[in-house]
Amino acid sequence: MRIDVVSLFPEFIAQCAGFGVVGRAQERALLSLHGWNPRDHADGGYRRVDDRPFGGGPGMVMMIDPRQACLAAARAADPAPVPVVYLTPQGVPLNQRKVRELASRPRLLLLCGRYEGVDERLLAAEVDEEISIGDYVLSGGELAAAVLIDAVARLQEGVLNDAESAVQDSFEGDGLLDCPHYTHPASHPLGEVPGVLRSGDHAAIARWRRQQSLGRTWLRRPDLLDEAGLSRADRALLEAFCQQLLSGTHEPG
Ligand code: ADE
Repeated sequence: MRIDVVSLFPEFIAQCAGFGVVGRAQERALLSLHGWNPRDHADGGYRRVDDRPFGGGPGMVMMIDPRQACLAAARAADPAPVPVVYLTPQGVPLNQRKVRELASRPRLLLLCGRYEGVDERLLAAEVDEEISIGDYVLSGGELAAAVLIDAVARLQEGVLNDAESAVQDSFEGDGLLDCPHYTHPASHPLGEVPGVLRSGDHAAIARWRRQQSLGRTWLRRPDLLDEAGLSRADRALLEAFCQQLLSGTHEPG
């Protein structure tokens, strides 16, 4: 997958994407990341990329031309058609379903804003989608772009090792939260590993994990249960989870 990023700080994104799973995706040539700086397409000695807002008010607004030229250069770098995604708190909230959809595309072109915003005419003419990573305001779109790149890169075929498989992640499949995980030692001053996980009974382990996943989602994100389409067996597991919780016999997770 190829991702182009238009940003005043392309080095920042390159740094963020240089480590861990995303770094590995690049090393394996499963992700190619390209930064484009509007300042390289700005005129004059000052290479100006922003100006004061019409109508007055605080802050600066990103000018049209440097960004439009930058987007054109990024588009022309590869023949595959590419949607332009603008990172903004006003966008559609990013979730795992959207990440999957973005990850299935051969190419993405991300546009990062800064300061008070980007001239609305550029957005109207060039942007296909607006995405937010949450209901809070960052000082620019770069961190949001880095988040999106990470989430998308790890889903590229061949990036995750078997042991890191994304299939069981929270929000995957039916959108429930993941179950709790444990490793050695089985016994520790902080607590015991739930007995079922050491039983070797794979059916019981799968049932326990499903139950934990349902229970956690019910406790922490009940909104997700509405969309999950629970089976009768799921409902019975969840009911038993609640009973255990009420009677104090719930194994902590
Ligand atoms: N730019 C500033 N804040 C943002 C947010 N919450 N999501 C995406 N882009 C942003």
